[in-house]
Amino acid sequence: MKKQLKLPIFEIIKHLAGKDNLRVYVIGGYVRDLIMKRPSKDVDIVIIGNGIKLAEAIAKEFPGKPKVTVFKRFGTGTAMFKYEGVEYEFVGARKESYSKNSRKPAVEKGTLEDDQNRRDLTINALAISLHPDNFGELLDPFNGLQDIENKLIRTPLNPDITFTDDPLRMMRAVRFACQLNFEIFPETLKAIKKNKERIKIISKERISDELNKIILSEKPSKGFKILDEVGLLPIIFPEFIALKGVETIHGLSHKDNFLHTLQVLDNISKKTDNLWLRWAAILHDIGKPATKRFAENGWTFHSHEFVGKKMIPNIFKEMRLPMNEKMVYVQKLVLLHLRPIALVKSEVSDSAVRRLLFEAGDAVDDLMTLAEADITSKNERKVKLFLKNLQVVRQKLIEVEEKDKIRNWQTPISGEIIMKTFNLKPSKKIGIIKDAVREAILDGIIPNEYNAAFEYMIKFVNANDLK
Ligand code: CTP
Repeated sequence: MKKQLKLPIFEIIKHLAGKDNLRVYVIGGYVRDLIMKRPSKDVDIVIIGNGIKLAEAIAKEFPGKPKVTVFKRFGTGTAMFKYEGVEYEFVGARKESYSKNSRKPAVEKGTLEDDQNRRDLTINALAISLHPDNFGELLDPFNGLQDIENKLIRTPLNPDITFTDDPLRMMRAVRFACQLNFEIFPETLKAIKKNKERIKIISKERISDELNKIILSEKPSKGFKILDEVGLLPIIFPEFIALKGVETIHGLSHKDNFLHTLQVLDNISKKTDNLWLRWAAILHDIGKPATKRFAENGWTFHSHEFVGKKMIPNIFKEMRLPMNEKMVYVQKLVLLHLRPIALVKSEVSDSAVRRLLFEAGDAVDDLMTLAEADITSKNERKVKLFLKNLQVVRQKLIEVEEKDKIRNWQTPISGEIIMKTFNLKPSKKIGIIKDAVREAILDGIIPNEYNAAFEYMIKFVNANDLK
């Protein structure tokens, strides 16, 4: 079967391959994505021979002569260059064998088939020839094309060999199943279950990269359910597994927070591609197992939002996720995730809305998106009603923000002003006075203006003898 290759590089390679009679192939993810009509960024080229020399010869033919970078890793050497945002990687075909306790393979030169053998999945082992004799011909020794048609994830070799060679491939298999909405072939699935413990030799950064790709898929719950089924989830994310299960006492049950969370994650994924907002959905109830109690009237999870917020730094540290403003944002959303619904239940007063605007700041829209995604009742009438009520809150947030400009707001009375007015040195008192003024504005006792705030400050200090 012939494939249509559109990038200009393929014509350049064809020309060079014909001149020097080189066997050259485009291989891996690019071919898979070409067949599946998915966008693809990177192009991997395999040559029977020296990949570095070929890369240099090709780069010379490109306008602007892109700079070739050479990596000596894995014996045969890899060369790459970037052109118009696309990364081209060149490598000599190789045979690999891995030792039991290391990820570092011993590498020998090999044939195209050796190179296809050592790849992770049949759908990633497809190659297309770039030699003029059979330019565009698909070389598919493992029926990868058929697996694409049948939507199947399967390893080219015995899966025990493929997964022991590189255990990250177990995560990749799940990730591709989720991203492409494929099923994992039963024998492949069985091998993941059997080899799951070997994931521990893989760096946590690489595992999280795959997990993040699952989270960014159209329907991430599919990936999490497979990770759970094969037993990888308790190893890579034990806190999440703790959400699983339903307990019943005196006929009263709570919901399965694992399934609920996955539903929230799928819901939010329809609204946003923001990885960190999706993480907030994953973690919004993470404090529930630790706070679960059975009280007279049923199950409670008091303060799970505070406990959840506190658990996040450890989870991020363990998973090597960034411990920066992204984490602070996720913490803020987890802490505040019940607030919009609480607003619905009470009378939506201006001061409650002001308070939420102040505490959520720029994250307020995302908080509302999370609150909407958190509605997972099976009762459609209830879902409609809650969503409608949250819509009222959204409207109110817009109105109050327009009127009071509270988002990212600073009180008109700074610590400096307080110290100067009362001739005070820095101390706890300054904080007390500042907080009192802020609270008065948020509660709507005084307007958000300097003169009113100044006057209130004087009265407050006198009444409480704080001078
Ligand atoms: N590969 C592999 N085992 C791995 C990683 C990669 O066999 N652990 C092979 C696969 O043939 C894959 C190719 O190397 O197609 C390129 O890997 P990579 O760029 O990581 O993945 P892609 O398949 O291109 O997909 P994506 O860009 O979505 O990660």
